Amino acid sequence: MEIHKEFFMVHSDVQIKEIVSQLTLEEKCSMLSGSDFWHTQAIERLGIPSIMVSDGPQGLRKQDENSSGVNDSIKAISFPCSCASASSFNRETLKKLGSTLGDECQAQNVSTILGPAINIKRSPLCGRNFEYVSEDPYLAGELSASYINAVQEKHVGTSLKHFALNNQEYRRLTNSSDCDVRTIREIYLPAFEIAVKKSQPATIMHSYNLINGEYAGESKWLLTDVLRKEWGFKGLVMSDWGAVSTRWKGVMAGGDLEMPSSGGINDRLVLEKAKNDPELVKKIDESVERILKWVYDFVDNREKGEFDFDKHHEIAREIEEDSIVLLKNSGLLPLDMSKKYAVIGEFAQKPRYQGGGSGHINAKKVSNAIDALKAAGLKFEYAKGFMAEPGKDSAKAKEINESLAKEAMAVAQNADVVLVFAGLPDSFESEGYDRTHMDMPQEQNELIDSLCSSGKKVIVVLHNGSPITMPWVDKVEAILELYLGGEAVGEACVNVLTGKVNPSGKLAETFPLRLEDTPSYMSFANDKTHTSYGEGIFVGYRWYDTRKMNVLFPFGYGLSYTTFKYSDLQLDKSEMTDSDTVKATVTVTNTGSVDGKEIVQLYVSDKTKTAVRPVKELKGFEKVFIPAGKSQKVSFEIDKRSLAWFDVEQNDWYASTGEYEILVGPSSAELPCSAKLNFKTSVQRPIKISENTTLGDLYSNEKAAAILKGLQKSAMQDLENTSESASEALNEEMGAAMMDGSPLRNLMVWGRMSLEEYNSLVEKLKDAVKSE
Ligand code: BGC
Repeated sequence: MEIHKEFFMVHSDVQIKEIVSQLTLEEKCSMLSGSDFWHTQAIERLGIPSIMVSDGPQGLRKQDENSSGVNDSIKAISFPCSCASASSFNRETLKKLGSTLGDECQAQNVSTILGPAINIKRSPLCGRNFEYVSEDPYLAGELSASYINAVQEKHVGTSLKHFALNNQEYRRLTNSSDCDVRTIREIYLPAFEIAVKKSQPATIMHSYNLINGEYAGESKWLLTDVLRKEWGFKGLVMSDWGAVSTRWKGVMAGGDLEMPSSGGINDRLVLEKAKNDPELVKKIDESVERILKWVYDFVDNREKGEFDFDKHHEIAREIEEDSIVLLKNSGLLPLDMSKKYAVIGEFAQKPRYQGGGSGHINAKKVSNAIDALKAAGLKFEYAKGFMAEPGKDSAKAKEINESLAKEAMAVAQNADVVLVFAGLPDSFESEGYDRTHMDMPQEQNELIDSLCSSGKKVIVVLHNGSPITMPWVDKVEAILELYLGGEAVGEACVNVLTGKVNPSGKLAETFPLRLEDTPSYMSFANDKTHTSYGEGIFVGYRWYDTRKMNVLFPFGYGLSYTTFKYSDLQLDKSEMTDSDTVKATVTVTNTGSVDGKEIVQLYVSDKTKTAVRPVKELKGFEKVFIPAGKSQKVSFEIDKRSLAWFDVEQNDWYASTGEYEILVGPSSAELPCSAKLNFKTSVQRPIKISENTTLGDLYSNEKAAAILKGLQKSAMQDLENTSESASEALNEEMGAAMMDGSPLRNLMVWGRMSLEEYNSLVEKLKDAVKSE
């Protein structure tokens, strides 16, 4: 982009504080909310400018200044939605997206793009999954950190959203996400944590929902204790649009900016309260300081310029090409250009390339597969096959679809191979409501089935924002998942179909066999006021793998036109402590005949049995280009956090001493290389001594165990077996297992301990573990 700087003075922290000191309390309160839907409040008296924010995340939805409609946006580039770009598993690709968006924001004078959106895909039914990244927090965090860093290098802010536990659309403004702390820490916060620590987003958008009965935007624990104090977040917190309930509570919790404007109502309420509340005044000052810093960070670094629509369209194509996932291929792909094809399905002409809601882009130019296939020189005939959007009048739609299907069957009869462009209609998934099932429209499934039954070889190309069922999966020859691929999806898809581009995307989410198999099936969006996150840490592949369930396509899965072999996984050391890091290196060889990119994945499996854990978790991924016949070494760094779980008792991450398995391979379901790692921690888990502390817990604490040594034997004396039948009733192993869960007080029952001995033991134990 051609740029030139507009301002050269950069406000220092001292100058910002100086401006705050000149503002009246009334002015400061007025700055705590937007001036309208997209702008911040200017203070003309002091020359404080107003800046504009726009949605995000997959393009610029900037309101058209010539229109009063908040949904009328300027022409912009529609990039692949996050469901697609996440499948690239490529930090460089997300960087390319971020940097391109940064340029567009500068050209359009947009200070901050409202994204990325990184809520965990708890259920495939969430209506907004198309703009979320993954079911895995590590992947979501790493990819969004790259996006944020790249946008912000252009002196444009991001708004990491929606913080936190906004995993459904159903009653999102009033529903409470009821979730235990360990699950919040291990599943729903780490993506935000990684992004904050690695990329310091200029702003974070708090979500609409409540968390365990408290509004996310009023949670001091979330917005201050965790976000600022623990993670070191320096930016400002803004509300999601209309998320504010009691504004002063939000300010006290650490919420800086209410968006959009509440028409001054909330500002006045805060002002009234602040007049008699010095603590609130302090918080207001802090918020205004953060708002000013953000405003001037943009204004002082403004870079005017223009961008080239055509160039950015090409970038949208490249991103999609890196993201498309080849799910099945019996050998018909890449296409044999000498054959005759039938192209069927309205999506071939009118692709579904983005989702509905606040991220909807007014795309300038959309490429379709028909034009791209013609340009590539493919010989084909086209039939619409079905209406992409089924329509409201179901009797009429049925009639139309039947005649379209008939026509498609006739066109297919003249072809060697049939390409069906299928997918979900717009109305099936959108912001604002959730899906109720995972199926494609019946007429599409039936048409694919009829084509297969007529003996035709069928390739299916999919346009959808979240997993679908595929009743025809075993009957078709190939399946290409485009997701919602942005405005250049037609060209990107054809480049992959023809083999100009070797597919290299992998699924950032599991495709389950049926909705009933999904972890949150019993508790997703089915209660008006509360949602129980009862499946806990077992989300996505963590659930399916631990329960050894079959799935349609596993997390991390995707094919290529070449093949890769994994060998020789090496750890640079086999022992590790809390402060160490270990380097894992694997060799990947392209064993096929074409060049290709491979996504190498590293998972960790905890063998210590200290806590309930998923059978494995993703802790590393790298995308590498390997020419045909060549090998490449790929390395990962493993640290304590890669092994750890969140121990609520310590309120900290903890990895216990013992063995861990490091697994490396091409997908969560195929990990051919493994190595053992021995970890030794110096952290002693705290233990509280009470009459109900179990002997098992006491034995797992070194100091307590030392005191107890020998005691267990005497405590068991009465249980010692004196006959064979007694042994059968309770052998030594069974007895030990039983004692493991026995509370301390039972030493007086099973053991021969007097009350005095017991009391003195309790004192000794308390003394020994006091410092922990
Ligand atoms: C959405 C946000 C969006 C905002 C502004 C809200 O309804 O949840 O993601 O940024 O509107 O359009």
